[in-house]
Amino acid sequence: MQFADIHTHFIPGIDDGATSMEETLEMLRMAYQSGTRQLVATPHMFLDGFEKNDPVLLNDRFAATMAGLKESSLRPEAAFIREMRLVLGAENYGSIEFIDALARGCVVPINGSRYLLVEFSPFLPLNKIEVVLQRVLVAGYTPIVAHTERIIAIQEKTARLENLAAMGCVFQVNGDTFLDSANSRVRRTGYAMASAGFVHVIASDGHRPHRRPPLLREAFEELRRKYPIEKVQAWLQDNPSRIIQNQAI
Ligand SMILES: [Fe+2]
Repeated sequence: MQFADIHTHFIPGIDDGATSMEETLEMLRMAYQSGTRQLVATPHMFLDGFEKNDPVLLNDRFAATMAGLKESSLRPEAAFIREMRLVLGAENYGSIEFIDALARGCVVPINGSRYLLVEFSPFLPLNKIEVVLQRVLVAGYTPIVAHTERIIAIQEKTARLENLAAMGCVFQVNGDTFLDSANSRVRRTGYAMASAGFVHVIASDGHRPHRRPPLLREAFEELRRKYPIEKVQAWLQDNPSRIIQNQAI
C-alpha cells in the first residue's frame, strides 16, 4: 500500500513545521521510508502568530522548496524525492479572517482542487463550527475538517458529526490518534469515529522530524488489526489520493 498524506507542514520556516531545508528533507525521507508517496504541504493560514495569509506568498515558498528539493534529488541519497508527488494546500484556521478571505477567493485549496482543509479551536461550540463550514460550502468548496477527533463537542458525542456529514463535510483524523501513546479522549473519539463510519481520511499532521513526524505506517499496522483492509486502504490511500486529484470520495 502506498500512503497519501494530505496534512503536513514540510515547507521550511513558514509556520511551526520544518525549520530548515535539512529538516524538510529528513521529513520527506522518513515519510518515503514508511511508505508515503504523496504529500500535501498544508502550512497554517489565518492562525494568530504566523500571519502568512497570502496565497501568493505560500505559492512562492512552495516553489522555492520544490526547487531546492529538485537540486537535492540529484544526489543519490536524495534520489527518492523523484518518486514522490508533493503538492500545496493550506490548513485554514476557522476564523473571521478566513471567512473574509474565502469571500475574496484568497484561499489555498489542496492541489488547486475543490477541497479545503479547515481546523478549529477544540473549544469552539458546534453551532459556530457549522456556520464556518456552511460558508465554505457556499463558496463552492468541500471542507475537510482537520483532526476532527480533537474537537471537544465531537469528543462529547460523535453522533454530532451526522449533520456535518449530511452537509457534505469530510473528516480527517490524525494517524497517531490510533496509537496507544495518544491522549485517551482523543484516541477514544478516533476509534468511535472509525467504527461509526465518520472517518474519510487519515493524515499525519507531520510537523518536524522529531515532533509529530510525518509517518502513517504505525497507524496502518494498528488499524489493519481492527478493521477490514478495504476500509484502512480507503482512509490511508484511496480517499486522500482522490482528494489530491479533485475526485469525489
Ligand atoms: Fe496541521
